[in-house]
Amino acid sequence: MNDLNDVNDGARGGLSNHTMKGLSILGCTGSVGVNVLRIVDAFPGRFRVVGLAAGGNVERLAQQVAAYRPRVVSVSNRAGLEALGRLVDLAGTRAVCGPDGMVEVATHAEASTVVASAVGAVGLVPTYRALEAGKDVALANKETLVMAGELMLRQSQARGGRLLPIDSEHCALHQCLEGRRPEEVRRLVLTASGGPFRDRAAGTFDEITPAEALCHPTWSMGRKITIDSATLMNKGLEVVEARWLFGVSPDRVDVLIHPQSIVHSMVEFVDGSVLAQLGVTDMRLPIQYALSYPERWEAAIPGMDFTQPMRLDFDLPDRDRFPCLGLAYQALARGGSVPAVLNAANEEAVTCFLEERVPFTAISESVEEVMTAHPGSPISTLEDVLEADAWARARSREALARRHSVRASR
Ligand SMILES: NC(=O)c1ccc[n+]([C@@H]2O[C@H](COP(=O)([O-])OP(=O)(O)OC[C@H]3O[C@@H](n4cnc5c(N)ncnc54)[C@H](OP(=O)(O)O)[C@@H]3O)[C@@H](O)[C@H]2O)c1
Repeated sequence: MNDLNDVNDGARGGLSNHTMKGLSILGCTGSVGVNVLRIVDAFPGRFRVVGLAAGGNVERLAQQVAAYRPRVVSVSNRAGLEALGRLVDLAGTRAVCGPDGMVEVATHAEASTVVASAVGAVGLVPTYRALEAGKDVALANKETLVMAGELMLRQSQARGGRLLPIDSEHCALHQCLEGRRPEEVRRLVLTASGGPFRDRAAGTFDEITPAEALCHPTWSMGRKITIDSATLMNKGLEVVEARWLFGVSPDRVDVLIHPQSIVHSMVEFVDGSVLAQLGVTDMRLPIQYALSYPERWEAAIPGMDFTQPMRLDFDLPDRDRFPCLGLAYQALARGGSVPAVLNAANEEAVTCFLEERVPFTAISESVEEVMTAHPGSPISTLEDVLEADAWARARSREALARRHSVRASR
């Protein structure tokens, strides 16, 4: 196992004098992005928002620009840029758009930390460029690590920027591993709520609607990750993420269903001791930890209330009803381009399911079909990743179109 503390050297970039930290936020208008700005607000004088990058929600972005006056702001296209200019005074803010605009936000000279909280593959290139520019990256956008984990790690180590996990499970592991040597660790245990269909009969999965799948029992999140939580693909992506962040082999990353979402994850050490991190289900907690690390700051979030009755249940995931989890392990085992293919096929399938064009079960089926068809190739550059991503999207659209026409003809 890599020593996380090598990558995340506590001495570097420390905030002991509370110097103002320059932040660029990719995906500032999303569920994580908005919570990042709540942390900025909760700690006046500790952060300066240097860059904001959004997709299409220009109304929310305009409010953020007015409040934080960043140096640079980016939206996904030119129409969005023009709309933004009509909504807010951009004096003193450079306004850009498209993939290059996002890279500009991610690499701005005054940003020392980039929060990667855009959803999906769109975050890949800017996050990579941020690491290449030596920035610390507070990472929520797990898809980028699934696509290009080895390249990201290499860039982080070569340029000295730390990869700090925001995902609550990985934040828990980060905390439990603090100060530990790799050889002391037996296994990492990621917990999963099990999603809304934890107890639902497999025979009814074809009837699941997007509205039902969007009702997560314990977390309020963006649409894509909520569907991923319902299929357990989210946990599969997290297994890949943990493999890269903490340098463990996949056979030492386990998953347990824990419906209460109180234990965010655990580390079992070689002596049999288990350290767990517990906390309320509020994303501000892991976001704050990533941004304050290696310090801990007094939080405005209420802590755990142990005076109330509480249960901690743990169970094994049902890999037959939730095949996406097994597919992620398979992708890791095959390595190279296969995790990028898994991710791209999943993104396409989730979009299609949300548009009500294919049934819920088509997500795992089409991902499996695309992965099986993929011969696998080594990944040495970002271009290799993008090529695998494009290949998988094309194959996935074919697979999904077939399933759509079957459904339409019923
Ligand atoms: N939500 C959580 O609690 C949570 C927890 C752990 C990890 N994560 C991870 O964090 C990431 C974000 O999740 P989320 O729940 O915050 O998603 P979300 O609410 O859907 O937000 C996604 C963000 O990405 C932006 N975006 C989408 N397409 C874009 C494009 N083409 N160019 C630039 N920006 C684009 C969106 O902009 P617009 O809204 O302006 O279009 C939005 O700001 C995901 O990778 C997820 O797996 C989330």
